Order: sequence, then structure tokens, then C-alpha cells
Amino acid sequence: MGDRDLVMIPGPTNVDPKVLLSMARPTLAHTSGAFASIFRETLADLGRIFKTGGAVLPLAGTGTLGAEVAFSNIIEPGDKVLVVSGGYFGDRLAEVAVHLGAAVDTLEVPWGSAPVIADVDKKLSSTKYKVMAAVHVDTSTGVANPAKELGELARAKDVLFLLDTVCSMAGMDVQVDAWGINVCFTGSQKALAVPPGMTIVSFDSKAQRVREQRKTLPASYYGDLKRWLPVLADPTKYFATPAVNMMYALHEGCRMVLAEGLEERFRRHARMASAFRAGLRAMGLRLLCDDAVASNTLTVAYYPPGVRDAEFRKSMQEEFGIVVAGELGPLREKAFRVGHMGNVNRSDILATLGAIEGSLSKEGYKFQLGAGTSAANTVLTR
Ligand SMILES: Cc1ncc(COP(=O)(O)O)c(C=O)c1O
Repeated sequence: MGDRDLVMIPGPTNVDPKVLLSMARPTLAHTSGAFASIFRETLADLGRIFKTGGAVLPLAGTGTLGAEVAFSNIIEPGDKVLVVSGGYFGDRLAEVAVHLGAAVDTLEVPWGSAPVIADVDKKLSSTKYKVMAAVHVDTSTGVANPAKELGELARAKDVLFLLDTVCSMAGMDVQVDAWGINVCFTGSQKALAVPPGMTIVSFDSKAQRVREQRKTLPASYYGDLKRWLPVLADPTKYFATPAVNMMYALHEGCRMVLAEGLEERFRRHARMASAFRAGLRAMGLRLLCDDAVASNTLTVAYYPPGVRDAEFRKSMQEEFGIVVAGELGPLREKAFRVGHMGNVNRSDILATLGAIEGSLSKEGYKFQLGAGTSAANTVLTR
């Protein structure tokens, strides 16, 4: 199989050859007019995808850098931050904020559940926080957190709202301005379907004012919004060399997202997710989260008793050429994760379910072979 592997992990996702080929073009001078127009178009497209009129900053780096840049512009040492966490990447947000000197409280939500808004409200009422941070879709659980409601709450409590949309942007609706997300970041390698290597961070006018009025310098020099704003206004200006060929890929990726149409893309993701979940359930598998809180970008399923994680995933890859992901933290070896975002189509869903059936069967799990693909097909042909 090798180079024909179908990558069904929750990022990086399968990249269209058009995006890959865009990177093979000659590397333009980063301050040239030709590159500036690519940069400008990409910024405009990212604004449409984020649904924001705020500043959108694409940087060479991954989602983790996005978290650092997001926090480092708006927090100063000792600032109080509340992180609402129900998984590995929520905990990661708290770690980043601590690393940057914030005083962090974490509101822990059980893995597989979404936060109860009244609990968050209570926590926000107990202390004057400067920032509330959350993950939209935590890639360790597949839960889609109620970002809109969290945004409304943050606005009501006059707290800055910082949201990690690494595993949702361009696969599920994210309305940065309408939902009051003051700082939002994502990565290129998930639903945007661009190779890993770019992070994008948006700052609304309130977050920009907070950066402008801070008393101390941001912990990140490279990620200081103030140094990038002149480049965003005129990309022929220099602050740090943009990753020119990665910007080609992001440019092409954004064009493909918008050519499909955001709402159409969200519908496709919803359809693929519901077919996939129907397939897993028809095999008798138990999913980590209820449909009411399930994201459309990935699914987490528990292994039936007796099925071994490493052997199952080895069979998936070696016998079927399909790569799925193991779990993290407390669910390690107890469940597996499948990403269905970006360019995912019906064939990918059916092939993955077929391979899961084969690999579970090889591990000795007894069920009706074909039940999963059949249930998914019923949804997909509806
Ligand atoms: C929700 C979420 N946040 C942050 C990250 C970190 O991003 P990266 O691995 O690109 O640094 C990931 C990575 O999978 C993620 O899924």
C-alpha cells in the first residue's frame, strides 16, 4: 500500500493534489507584488472562512504556536484565565497559559461531555477573569463544545473569549464575530485540508485594543500582533519572512473551501459524520459521546472487549491501507479515533468502515460482517 494509504486520523488529513502542486511553484520574493497579492487574497478568504472582519494572522507553525500567539498577545503575567477543558487539548490550553505566566483555573468537564453553561457562568461569577479559553472540538474526545453559548456568556461577563478551532474551522460552522470570539486560532492540517505548517490566529478589535494597551511586552516576539499589523495592511512590508510555498498551499486550500461553499461543506461534513457513526453503531460499537454533542469532524469509538489497540490499528494500516488514530490520556488503548474532515467523501467513509469490520473481525469480535457499511450506505443514499 505505502503511498496509497488513506489517512483517516484527525489531522493531518488527505490533501488534494491541486494544493500539493501549488506548493511546487517557484518561491517568489516574499515582498514582491506577486506574492503580496496571493497574501492579500488569502487574508480575504480566511476572513470569509473565520466569518470575521478582524485581523487574521497566518503564521508558519502549527496549532500549538497558534495557542501561544493567541494567549501571548492578550495576557500579561499574573492575569487570571479560566480554561474550560474536557480533554487533552483543553488541558493543553491551560498549560500554554501557565507557561506564559497567567494564573489559570481549569473548569474540568468529563471526557465525552460538553460543559454545562450554568456551571461556566457560576465559575465566571466567582472571580474576575480576564480571559475564558476553550476548545471548540477537542480532538481527544470528538465533543463539539457550545462555542456560541460560551461566547454569549463571555460577552455578558465582560471576559475575553479565546477559542481553539484547530479541529473545527472549515468543517463546522464557526462565526468569529457573531459569536464574540475575541481571539480564535486554527491549524492548516485538519478541515482546511492543507498540509501541516500554518497556523492562523484572528483578533477582533477588542483583542487588538488589549494588545495595544498592555503594560508589558508579549512573551512572543515572532507572534506579536503589533509587529504583524503593518504586514497585514500591506504585505510588501517585512517583519519576518512568510513561508511562501506554504502560503501558496493555504491560498489554494482556502479557494477550494470557498468554491465548495461553507454551508455546503458543513452539510457534507455532517452527512459523512452521521453515516460513519451509524456504521459504527450498527457494528455494535459504543461511541464516546452522544450525538447531541458529537462533532462532525471526528468520532471516538470504544473497542469491544478483547480487541487490542495496536493490533487493530496495524491491521487497518497493513491489510487495508487505512490509518486511524489511537486515543490519548485516560482513554489510551481503550478507544480509537477516526477523522472525517477536509476532503472526506463517501468512498472514504465506506472504505474505512469496511476496514474496521475486517480488522475487528480479525481480532475475534463477533458481529454481522457488512452491517456497518450497509448502515452507512443507508444514510449516504438517503
Ligand atoms: C484541538 C487541537 N488543538 C490544538 C492542537 C495542536 O496543534 P498542532 O499539533 O498543529 O500543534 C491540535 C492538534 O491536533 C488539536 O487537535
